[in-house]
Amino acid sequence: MILRHTKAVRMIHWSIALSIFLLFFSGFGQMPLYKRYMLTDIVPWTGDYWLTLYLHYLGAVVLMTAVGWHAVFHGIRKETGLLPRSGDLQESVQIIKAMITGGKEPPSDKYLAEQRLAYAYIAFTVGLLIVTGVVKVIKNLGFNLNDSLLFWSTQMHNLGSVLLLFGIIAHLAAFIPAANRKLLPSMFHGKVDEEYVKHRHSIWYKRLKKGT
Ligand code: HEM
Ligand code: HEM
Repeated sequence: MILRHTKAVRMIHWSIALSIFLLFFSGFGQMPLYKRYMLTDIVPWTGDYWLTLYLHYLGAVVLMTAVGWHAVFHGIRKETGLLPRSGDLQESVQIIKAMITGGKEPPSDKYLAEQRLAYAYIAFTVGLLIVTGVVKVIKNLGFNLNDSLLFWSTQMHNLGSVLLLFGIIAHLAAFIPAANRKLLPSMFHGKVDEEYVKHRHSIWYKRLKKGT
């Protein structure tokens, strides 16, 4: 077995994932959605606006702390393996084609081209939600903000939520094909099968063997 995700990386991933689930649940709670669909008949507190707002703030604090930690941690260590590279779009098409036809995939580094693109997409939507969310918090604190800034922040916060939801569905659906499923346990215990790395992430494997 080969270590793919350290304990710190796993903690950051799960802090981000769990806080985002809380943000979705509490964000939807601020719209009269749970009363409309009668969830409040079974779990009454889901209809409490203030409680869902405070849960949203709690989620926001955890998310922003984890995102900050992620940026500083990997920034200091100069770990940029998840940042997109030129040619990633064509390479992703090749990988998906190979997965469907059973053909040969191009050699991959620690992350596949499609994972680098997925990272950029998720980072962009999370960034958009944080920036627009901070504007909404400033308004809630009683500061007088420009009407159009408030209008666009709300629109972009809602759009960001929908885009991130699509991203998460795609992220989870990516683990349905057997070829990707080998990566799933490593987000829990950190390790992946050596044979898998040798064949699918051959560039990373060579670097590991060279100790670079
Ligand atoms: C809000 C929820 C989540 C977000 C925003 C998120 C985000 C990410 C991102 C950006 C990556 C790195 C790029 C990639 O591999 O695509 C990643 C990796 C990963 N995620 Fe998530 N994730 C979430 C939830 C989950 C859940 C629920 C699972 C599993 C049940 C999961 C399993 C994994 C695994 C196994 C990897 C590592 C893939 C590898 O080793 O290459 N994620 N996640
Ligand atoms: C994954 C991230 C997030 C999702 C999915 C999300 C989702 C939502 C949704 C669906 C709403 C209700 C629509 C609305 O009232 O405009 C909302 C409202 C709000 N969100 Fe978020 N949000 C996220 C992150 C954040 C962050 C990071 C912050 C703060 C820094 C934040 C602050 C707010 C505020 C202040 C409101 C309005 C509450 C009110 O005054 O009623 N959100 N969010």
